[in-house]
Amino acid sequence: FQPKVLSGRHVLITAGPTFEAIDPVRGLTNRSSGKMGFALARAAHEAGAQVTLVAGPVALPTPRGVQRVDVMSAQDMQRAVQASADAADVFIAAAAVADWRPANAAGQKIKKDGSGEVPALAFVENPDILAGVAQGARAKGGALYCVGFAAESHDLLAHAQAKRARKGVPLLVGNIGPDTFGRDDNALLLVDEGGTTELPRDGKLALARRLVAEIARRLPRG
Ligand code: C5P
Repeated sequence: FQPKVLSGRHVLITAGPTFEAIDPVRGLTNRSSGKMGFALARAAHEAGAQVTLVAGPVALPTPRGVQRVDVMSAQDMQRAVQASADAADVFIAAAAVADWRPANAAGQKIKKDGSGEVPALAFVENPDILAGVAQGARAKGGALYCVGFAAESHDLLAHAQAKRARKGVPLLVGNIGPDTFGRDDNALLLVDEGGTTELPRDGKLALARRLVAEIARRLPRG
C-alpha cells in the first residue's frame, strides 16, 4: 500500500546523462544509467503526483503515467526543465549533466586524414540547471522544493553539505559508494537543514519510494 503523499503535486525530474556533440557522429557524455531518476518518476507517480521526466539518452521504458521529454544536450535539458519549472512543486535533479561541451560542434564529421594529426577540442562550461532553477524559484518567491544529488568518491558528507549550499537547495542526496553506476541498488545520505538521514542499501525502486516519502514530509502544506 502506497499512501498518496504527493497527490495534487507536480514533480519535475531530470534523469540520465547528457550528450554533447563534437560532430554529427561523436560526442562527450557522462556515465549514468538513468535508473535512479526513472525509479523516482515511478515512485512519485505512485504517490499521486503528476510527473514530468526530462530524460537524457538512456534505454529505459517510460514509467506508466509519466510524461517523458527526451533531450540530448545540457542546453536542451535546461530548456525542457525551464518549460515545466513554473508549474512544478518539486524539482528533483537526478541527471548526470556534462560539465562542459565542445565550444564549436562541427557540422560535418571530422575526418581522420591519415597524417596522424589530432583535432584540438576547446570546451565551454554548461549551465548548472539545478542551481539556475533554485535561484529562479527564490527570485519569484515561489515554493518550488529543489532536490539535488551528489556522486562523490570520498568525503561524501562534506561534499554534500558544500553542494547543498552552493546550489542553494534545501535537500541534497548523496549516493553512498562505492560505485552506483548502472547498479540496481544504492544507499543514500540525505542532507538538509536538520542534519542527515541515511537510507540503507536497497533496490533503487524501494529507495526511490522512501526518498519520495522523505521529500513529501518536507513540503509546505499544499
Ligand atoms: O555539481 P555537480 O554536478 O556535482 O552537482 C550534481 C547535482 O547538480 C545533481 O543534482 C545534478 O543533476 C545537478 N546538475 C545540474 N546541472 C549541471 C550540473 C549538475 O542540474 N550542469
